[in-house]
Amino acid sequence: MKHILAVDQFERPWLESLFTEADRMRDLPRDAEPLRGKILATIFYEPSSRTRLSFESAMMRLGGNVISTENASEFSSAIKGETVEDTMRMVSGYADAIAIRHFEEGAIARAVTVSDVPILNAGDGPGEHPTQALLDLYTIHHEIGRIDDIHIAMVGDLKYGRTVRSLSLLLRQTNNCHITFVAPNAVRMRDDIKDALDAAGVHWQEESDLHAAMENADVVYQTRIQKERFDSESDYEAVKGTYVIDAEAMTHLPAHAIVMHPLPRVDEIATEVDTDPRAAYFRQARNGVFVRMALLNQLLG
Ligand code: CP
Repeated sequence: MKHILAVDQFERPWLESLFTEADRMRDLPRDAEPLRGKILATIFYEPSSRTRLSFESAMMRLGGNVISTENASEFSSAIKGETVEDTMRMVSGYADAIAIRHFEEGAIARAVTVSDVPILNAGDGPGEHPTQALLDLYTIHHEIGRIDDIHIAMVGDLKYGRTVRSLSLLLRQTNNCHITFVAPNAVRMRDDIKDALDAAGVHWQEESDLHAAMENADVVYQTRIQKERFDSESDYEAVKGTYVIDAEAMTHLPAHAIVMHPLPRVDEIATEVDTDPRAAYFRQARNGVFVRMALLNQLLG
């Protein structure tokens, strides 16, 4: 595997070996530097805290170096009209791998066609976020102890949320998974994902009652309503706040279950939930470092 573009690339045996590697990365000695002398470029045309910083942390923990532009739309030559293809041609001469986030679905697929070095899709508009899906499934494995026989409720902005799109597709690599989609009408899961799940025989259903969905879940995956993807403020206002997980909602969640969220959150998980041991979202974000270490080591080691 040269590039990381979409979750369709990932198969079960590879996932299992990646998760074993991610476990090993948790305790990698600080003086082990398997990627010493290698350079990762992080080129982000959309804002990010977790993905960019965890990629950079992962590279540095492996002994490698990082070059970065955190606001490529403004601080790279994109503002002068340079295409993403030309930027990638050039950066592939400066770095051994490139993690790129772009606001346009499909832009990273174009970048891959011109790059001499591995490209990692760090999110392409409302398209996919494959490394997030890897860390999400790894978190389920780490927290619940299995990735089969999981009932997951995905909540919130399922139309524009690339993390739930990628995770849904990745769950086709598990056995006997059941997905319940809980979303306001305007942001329901798109048909392309539902069709892919049907073709793979993954059970899914839609539910409007969040509490009912939580009662049957091993994992509740809450997401932010993505204001930046709406055409108007009023369309966003009509949808936001529909499904909030607060202390009362948590009384409907089984004791063994967890709450995940790719973050950032706005108000869809009340801060009072943060101290509940079932709130796994900050542990999930930390897992991003270990999974990205395992991935970079595999691509560049
Ligand atoms: N989960 C995630 O993609 O977060 P960032 O947008 O902060 O990278």
